[in-house]
Amino acid sequence: MRLPISLRTLIVALSLLAIPISWAQIPAQLLDEGWLFHAGDLESVADAQTPATFAGEPVHMPHDWAAAGPFDPEEHGGTGKLPWKGIGWYRTELDIPAEAEGQRVYLDFDGAMAFPVIYLNGEEVGSWDYGYTPFRIDITDHVKAGESNVLAVKLDTQKWSSRWYPGAGLYRKVTLVFDQQIHFANWGVGVSTDGDELLGLPAENAILSIEVENHTDAETALVIETEILDPAGKTVATETLEASALSDATTHLGMELHVANPELWDVDSPKLYAAKVKLLDSEGELLDEYETNFGFRTFAFTADDGFHLNGRRVQLKGVNLHSDLGPLGMAFNYHAQKRQLEIMMEMGVNAIRTSHNPPAKELLELCDELGLVVWDEVFDKWGWTAGRDDLTPPLMPFAHRQIENTLKRDRNHPSVVIWSIGNEVQGGDAGDGITPERTAMLAGFARTIDAHRPIAMACHIPPLTNGENFASLDLAGWNYARRYARFRSVWPEKPIVYSESASAFSTRGYYDPELATRKSDYGKPYEISSYDVTAAYWSDVPDKEFELMENDSYVAGEFVWTGFDYIGEPTPYDAQSRSSYFGIVDLCGFLKDRFFIYRSHWREDVDTTHILPHWNWEGREGKNVPVFVYTNGDSAELFLNGESLGMRRKGERPERGPNLAASATATASSGESAALAIDSELSTAWIAGEEDQPSLTIDLGQLHPISTIQLETNGKEHFYAYVIETSKNGKKWKQIVEKGTEDLEEWQGVTRILHQVEAEGRYLRISFAENLGESETGLSDVKVFSNPTTNDYYDVTYDYRLRWDEVTYQPGELKAVSYKDGEVIGEATVETTGKPVALRLTPEKTEVAADGQEFVYVTAEAVDSKGRAYPLADNEITFSVSGAGEFQATGNGDSYSFVSFSSPVRKLFYGKAQLIVRPLAGNGGTITITAEAEGLESATIEVLAK
Ligand code: GAL
Repeated sequence: MRLPISLRTLIVALSLLAIPISWAQIPAQLLDEGWLFHAGDLESVADAQTPATFAGEPVHMPHDWAAAGPFDPEEHGGTGKLPWKGIGWYRTELDIPAEAEGQRVYLDFDGAMAFPVIYLNGEEVGSWDYGYTPFRIDITDHVKAGESNVLAVKLDTQKWSSRWYPGAGLYRKVTLVFDQQIHFANWGVGVSTDGDELLGLPAENAILSIEVENHTDAETALVIETEILDPAGKTVATETLEASALSDATTHLGMELHVANPELWDVDSPKLYAAKVKLLDSEGELLDEYETNFGFRTFAFTADDGFHLNGRRVQLKGVNLHSDLGPLGMAFNYHAQKRQLEIMMEMGVNAIRTSHNPPAKELLELCDELGLVVWDEVFDKWGWTAGRDDLTPPLMPFAHRQIENTLKRDRNHPSVVIWSIGNEVQGGDAGDGITPERTAMLAGFARTIDAHRPIAMACHIPPLTNGENFASLDLAGWNYARRYARFRSVWPEKPIVYSESASAFSTRGYYDPELATRKSDYGKPYEISSYDVTAAYWSDVPDKEFELMENDSYVAGEFVWTGFDYIGEPTPYDAQSRSSYFGIVDLCGFLKDRFFIYRSHWREDVDTTHILPHWNWEGREGKNVPVFVYTNGDSAELFLNGESLGMRRKGERPERGPNLAASATATASSGESAALAIDSELSTAWIAGEEDQPSLTIDLGQLHPISTIQLETNGKEHFYAYVIETSKNGKKWKQIVEKGTEDLEEWQGVTRILHQVEAEGRYLRISFAENLGESETGLSDVKVFSNPTTNDYYDVTYDYRLRWDEVTYQPGELKAVSYKDGEVIGEATVETTGKPVALRLTPEKTEVAADGQEFVYVTAEAVDSKGRAYPLADNEITFSVSGAGEFQATGNGDSYSFVSFSSPVRKLFYGKAQLIVRPLAGNGGTITITAEAEGLESATIEVLAK
């Protein structure tokens, strides 16, 4: 807007009067040094005023006060058994330059857990109420320029609740920002692009929405100069806007710059543009500058054909990630985050869901640069896990604050394609649960900040789709078990993402050669077999989800729960263990075998041949050890000590002998459709009717040995109690199975159950004693086999894995050669190793920056005399670090270990342990790392910090 000259002159004159300041731009300061941390409360805030009264220890920032432990084995494992509940204080001194007099001064917090109260020079200057969102505190009126100012932050996690480990403290960055009295607002330059994916209209205009804060009482004339830089850094568009900033207010302005044929941001080639925006007064004096990356791309979520990006369908191959960084806890570190994402991309991941909270902003910068699309999530539920334990403060203003800060901060990232306003929000009666009104208000508010991305929520209760709860969402995420199918039948025009899939379990390196017969057979506590045949009862093995994604191409793709193991939620050993089993890689980032199932299915550009288990089975000679091969090929041949054990092809599902029930007859004590229980059709069922204790009797026609009975119950099986009996003559009965009920959530549970028995009979009778569910008592499928057979639930695994379930173990060399279209594409070998004689250390990098930030990750193993890693090693290692680095943490992927992450003594867990070293900030030099263990030759390596 151009103002009349006379008015402009007047405003300039006024504004010069109103800003009696030096125009020196003071650079923002990252506050990462000089902090002290005090565990527990202070008697009074005055104690923070001097180091002498504060009694704190120096800490590196960002900082998580609870990560170092100690673990409390008696605590519930849900939040990691770490001491994150409590009060903690941080203190530092801010040297505010004299030139700051008359300027605006702000503190920007990227994330503080939880309920931070900020004090400057003993005076409370601000607070915040959600542990995951960034916020700004204006300290202009409290700061003393030209002096040292004491900054103290109190955090109190006592009223914070979580379903995972939330960390504690100033776990993301804190920055001190100086501004003129007229400046861009925090996150005050939004850049979006135009274009329409569905209409095929290209994106070629950058649309800026600019907020200018004017803290003077004069309306002021301004000039805004914008420059767009292409990915090579060349200026490709410029534009100038003359405007005026209203007095004592925030002025909203817009600009649009044309860029012809821009290079597109895409998952395959993430091209980033930059907008450089300058704020000048009418004399041409620079007031503020803002630089932000953005990208040109078009995308759409469609109801019938998934996700489209830049004109083509892109299958989302995603993972959920919580915010912790394994042994580092929640303390954010750029390099650790980058390492996580790179490991995921190596597997074929192209999408990240930041479950269930806004990530550190650097995660989005990385996703922009690496080419990952992001589901950016603001909340888990809206009640207790949002820090609203007692449902205060009121949901709407609270949620608006969090949505506003998240969306404003994150809106320029081309990687972000979905805003999620919640995960698994319960129904209307559960605190602040889903109601059509609440969903509409939150989605509507989000759209006022960004109208360019779909507003979504991850849902989990299919019956909730029937009302208007989801009417205001642009897109629905559904968690697990194809629950999205019901939603699609109610809302066929809404796009769907499989926001959580799998929730499969495994412990890296541990194998139970007795394969599970149901997905909920977990073998021994507190480890879960890496044959990858188990999952939470509400979810499925990876292969099942692959099949769904192939069949249901209207779904945009899946986000696996989870990419990495995380601290907390160690289902199914929630009470006992301290970190999860869900991860495709373990807490240290060591690959589980599952990594290769995904890589072989997701990555077309590289060949994968992976064999499992290890081949050290002393004591199992002559006994069975199943062997699986994961490959992108279509077949493989297995050799044990040079002898072929045959070729297997994908899609060859097991022969399981005749299903005796298929040729049987069935009668029922009540209900008329007994035959439907044995017709091998899941869509038809015998329904018992009103009778109290109904039973179904199957006549197999003649006497048979009975080994396996597989039932598909009408409702979820955990609601039913029943007994199964056999009889030779239909008169005398023998009980072979007794099953009770289980108390689970209404929407949880499975319908399939497999009973392995040793019995004989012509007749089989299933008598129901109890049904706690709402579904009628009944059976949709019964299968009976004479030979012990596997659950046909697992048939789908034969489409994605190559399985040799019966291999007789003998030590030596086991080799798989994989093929694609008749051509060899790779091979993989495991060997029986000798007992370990020495330690080996392998750093992930041999050179790191001497910036105090780029950690060195080192893998420790125990090797035999031929240098082969012993896969079962559990030796206790003592690490030491000297020279240009210092010890940071250790881990080994054991979810049930209560050794502190800050202990330099760590056992190998199934042959591996991890040491994390922090290079000292400074001139660099050699970091010397040593590992020692009793009875083994020690190992020493050197890493260069530069
Ligand atoms: C989901 C939930 C996740 C995690 C997961 C484990 O229902 O959204 O946060 O708890 O279950 O399977």
